[in-house]
Amino acid sequence: MKRREIFAGNWKMYKTCPEAENTIKSLVEGLGDIGTKEVVVFSPSPYAKTCVETAKNSPIAIGMQNMYFEDEGAFTGEVSPIMVKDCGCKYILIGHSERRHVFGESDLDVNKKIKSALKHNLSPMVCIGELLEEREKGTTNEVIKRQMDGAFDGISSQEALKIVIAYEPVWAIGTGKVATPEIAEEVHALVRKLIAEKYDQATADIMPILYGGSVKPDNISGLFAKENIDGVLVGGASLDAGSFLSIINV
Ligand code: PGA
Repeated sequence: MKRREIFAGNWKMYKTCPEAENTIKSLVEGLGDIGTKEVVVFSPSPYAKTCVETAKNSPIAIGMQNMYFEDEGAFTGEVSPIMVKDCGCKYILIGHSERRHVFGESDLDVNKKIKSALKHNLSPMVCIGELLEEREKGTTNEVIKRQMDGAFDGISSQEALKIVIAYEPVWAIGTGKVATPEIAEEVHALVRKLIAEKYDQATADIMPILYGGSVKPDNISGLFAKENIDGVLVGGASLDAGSFLSIINV
């Protein structure tokens, strides 16, 4: 079964607006024929519209890194799904580990954001992953199950088909300590099994599951070769167009 292959970059809180524009330009120029591969850039919210305009007529889709689940209201500093759509974004990153662990987002927040994104026809890319202490205690599978149960609570199988999962072990994010392809594959297979149990095998077979955490041009090929790894979510190495392009061209 051929699943969608997605290469996503998460720029976090980096770059100025001209830098964002120039990086998208370099990506557009450097992409070449990527076949059926999909490329997504999660830009900082204030630059999303510029990135959308710069990526117009190219295979690059733009997303934002976070949003609130309400449509509007007195929520100072938040961005609504309507605003994300207004900027021309197709994707929304939900439950990134920095949102969960720096800003205290819960599994329930993640679930509400997914439902809100689906309601507004945005594609949610949902991040899950265990902390180092959870891996060392041997509770990785429980953590993944809890996060998956929370994220997909009340989501129909039709809706689930619109969701992309990104497995990002927290100990691998920004640390240079990439998970081995074997460790990543084990969790990806578990995620697919959980989807099959909640919905059915067909839904599980279609869902793209990406790996994230210290992905670099020199470790992409081992990861991407694994059966259940359908692409990657790249932080640091996506800031530079050249290194992101070599990852995409794996
Ligand atoms: P990293 O970040 O590639 O810099 O480890 C990944 C992420 O946070 O999505």
